[in-house]
Amino acid sequence: MSLPDHIAQKIHALRAALREHNYKYYVLAEPSISDLEFDQQLKALQDLEQAYPEAYDPDSPTQKVGGEINKQFATFEHEFPMLSLGNTYSEAELLEFDKRIQKQLGHTNYQYVCELKFDGLSISLHYDNGQLIRAVTRGDGVKGDVVTDNVKTIQSLNSRLQAPYPEKIELRGEVFMHRPAFDRLNMEREEAGEPLYANPRNVASGTLKLQDSAEVAKRPLDIFLYQLLEHKPTINTHYESLQSIRQWGLPCSNNTQLCNSIQAVFDYIKHWDEARKLLTYDIDGVVVKINDYHQREELGYTAKSPRWAIAYKFKTEAACTPLLSIDYQVGRTGAITPVANLQSVFLLGTTVKRASLHNANEIERLDLRVGDYVYVEKGGEIIPKITGVDLSKRSDQSIKVAFITHCPECGTTLIRQAGEAQHYCPNELNCPPQVIGKIQHFIHRKAMDINGLGDETVELLYQAGLLKSIADLYDLSYEQVIQLDRMADKSSSQLIESIQASKQVPYQRVLFGLGIRYVGETVAKKLAATFKHIDALKAASKEALLAVDEIGERIADSIVEYFQSDLHCQMIERLKAAGLCLENTAEAPVQLSDKLQGKIIVISGVFTQFSRDEIKAMVEQHGGKNAGSISAKTHYVVAGENMGPAKLEKAKQLNIPILSEADFLALIQA
Ligand code: IVH
Repeated sequence: MSLPDHIAQKIHALRAALREHNYKYYVLAEPSISDLEFDQQLKALQDLEQAYPEAYDPDSPTQKVGGEINKQFATFEHEFPMLSLGNTYSEAELLEFDKRIQKQLGHTNYQYVCELKFDGLSISLHYDNGQLIRAVTRGDGVKGDVVTDNVKTIQSLNSRLQAPYPEKIELRGEVFMHRPAFDRLNMEREEAGEPLYANPRNVASGTLKLQDSAEVAKRPLDIFLYQLLEHKPTINTHYESLQSIRQWGLPCSNNTQLCNSIQAVFDYIKHWDEARKLLTYDIDGVVVKINDYHQREELGYTAKSPRWAIAYKFKTEAACTPLLSIDYQVGRTGAITPVANLQSVFLLGTTVKRASLHNANEIERLDLRVGDYVYVEKGGEIIPKITGVDLSKRSDQSIKVAFITHCPECGTTLIRQAGEAQHYCPNELNCPPQVIGKIQHFIHRKAMDINGLGDETVELLYQAGLLKSIADLYDLSYEQVIQLDRMADKSSSQLIESIQASKQVPYQRVLFGLGIRYVGETVAKKLAATFKHIDALKAASKEALLAVDEIGERIADSIVEYFQSDLHCQMIERLKAAGLCLENTAEAPVQLSDKLQGKIIVISGVFTQFSRDEIKAMVEQHGGKNAGSISAKTHYVVAGENMGPAKLEKAKQLNIPILSEADFLALIQA
């Protein structure tokens, strides 16, 4: 029986809508429909798929169990509602808050606890008889999603309390992601030619809502606990409760301070407004709380927030400037990124002229019009972002932005797959920035590392019609190259020599250089270790790919799709014929001991006995892992001469042992 057209269309529309909702929920953490509506649509699709089995599609939202797929968290009603905090940006209002406390209590005999305001998402943890039995998101404040398995992936969080502990407690805190982990995630996305995540908070929030806990474990989250709720209170002050949290072996910030006066609170704020730059995670202010629980009760609550606490938010510098136009950039994977051109404005020490708009959803969300006065902020992000529009300045002549329908570079009609936020230009073979971008990626230092061939020369060779794909590199001759402008005799022969030398580059780097979507440096290493020949990788089924550590649905699908293209396969055959290294011949690294097993080590500075690379190799030979930047997860920093002061400061602040070259050698030889 063939599938009736109207049913096929209905199934197609439902799948598209559900993918879009999944994306909004899991990735953007901004759902646009209720849970009930989502479940109804999912059920409608399940019913249709059951009635028409010929419509089976393994990629349907009904089939996926992991990642950004079905949404099936149980909900839990909070025993104590999860309230928010009143907040202020001004010292004057903070003084008023203090006066109100004084007036209500009728004396000045009170203390504040000042804490950092972590920029993540709040979570409630339930421990019964010392065991974590439930973790619930804030949700709407009354009830939230049960995300226990995901929370259990947080390495710093013990599921079992250290005794002695009360029989039943609830703890609240903030789940967040450290900046280095966030940067690493984004670096991998950049390497894979993917649009970048906006900030660690969005990623943390999206991650906690993933269905697949194995996927969550790959995105390291952290947590600080800042509130204890007891059924039969045994503790009288907040400060003591934080000490208990620590004694139970749970993560609690060390940057909390007891303050005897509002002046001490101001000093704390002043210190952290500056010192926050040295933290490995983002904070957006300071929370000021009354310490004594009886006084808290006396002060009470408004409908939304406690009267005994307030959040002081750091000012993020924003500027307001007209939006002049929007450009559309085409990445090497064909992804289209809209970029706002702004009238120049000075912000936090630099002139800002452009801001990324990410994708069409973002333009829609902001309801942007050319000519609008837009707010630009730098916040924690490197790239300035547009946070809103000053509607009072909108003119009648402003023009609503209509996203382009054709590639600005090659004119091809853009596509946008259901469930994806990004538009793509599908003209992989002939769209100039895609062709040039792919070759530039291939010659990248971490891929083929072809000396004497920079991004500009790639463009020149492309313009001259000599390079249309990476395989063309190996057909280039000295006679062709010397004819180019700016290419002298020496540089031309050097270039040809470097191209020849790149044939020795190991398989894993060639694989990274191919620029397969989502296959960054780390994934390429893992693939090369498992599929020791490119033909084995080409023949690998999705299941075989999924069996590799750290390879999920998204990467597996992308690899399978890559090798389905004849054009890619022909290009790989040409690379093989040219003599590139397309199989793994490397011996496994020699393991000398497990003295550093599980230890994450950062090497920094210049050493006297060994080179930095030699020390890094020693770390691996003794079972350790090298990391590029210091985070709370770092076990040791090995410091040579000239280690940067910021790194040093960060290591000290996180209490990470700093080893000299001699200390390190003693450690592995002990
Ligand atoms: S105490 C009654 N302490 O800020 C509210 N909240 O704007 C108790 N947050 O929902 C919250 N750091 O997600 C508290 N040290 C801290 C915090 C903190 C971050 C978040 C939390 C809360 C939001 C309120």
